[in-house]
Amino acid sequence: MMIQPATLADAAEVAEIYAHHVRCGTATYELEAPAPSEMAARMAKVIAAGWPWLVARDPAGQMLGYGYVVQFRDRAAYRYAGEDSIYIRNECRGQGVGKALLAALIGASETAGFRQLYAVIGGAEPGSIALHAALGFSHAGRLRGSGRKAGRWLDTVFMQIAIGAGDTAPPPSEP
Ligand SMILES: CC(C)(COP(=O)(O)OP(=O)(O)OC[C@H]1O[C@@H](n2cnc3c(N)ncnc32)[C@H](O)[C@@H]1OP(=O)(O)O)[C@@H](O)C(=O)NCCC(=O)NCCS
Repeated sequence: MMIQPATLADAAEVAEIYAHHVRCGTATYELEAPAPSEMAARMAKVIAAGWPWLVARDPAGQMLGYGYVVQFRDRAAYRYAGEDSIYIRNECRGQGVGKALLAALIGASETAGFRQLYAVIGGAEPGSIALHAALGFSHAGRLRGSGRKAGRWLDTVFMQIAIGAGDTAPPPSEP
């Protein structure tokens, strides 16, 4: 497996992988799968901000999954807090791809300057909770009934990990 920074040429495959999880899962609260052009616009925003967007491919070049990190919320004081998202091609789940991608994303998040990384886990998805726990994330809260999809109320689970010096040292510069 190879893990590489994404380019906009990856948008169609990314959109295809994500569409399955929009239609069949509760990890994302989107109800309509975005078109490849919309996915390319989302990717362009992340890449332009200097945040990580990584893709995993098998030796034959097929995309196995992808993950990215964005600033947790827009307001400026959140600038050291990232939120990760990872989606694995449905038939390739449970083979260690998610773990490899998340480990790479944690490293890339430190390089990008983040000090905390949050997982906002839709539908309290057990696989995502297990993945983040395996990489050292700890539980940080639960929002009950925060989503409604597939005729069910969904809880959102928060998990977090400190990156680099975390909150034990100030950032390199302050405004
Ligand atoms: C959650 C997801 C990203 C995990 O990726 P994956 O490649 O399937 O997971 P891995 O094979 O790398 O497994 C990582 C760890 O999680 C555990 N795990 C994975 N899926 C699991 C499941 N459904 N139930 C329990 N544990 C699970 C594995 O046992 C492994 O733990 P270990 O290393 O301690 O043995 C993937 O299943 C997925 O795309 N799910 C749907 C979308 C989603 O939930 N995305 C997360 C949004 S934040």
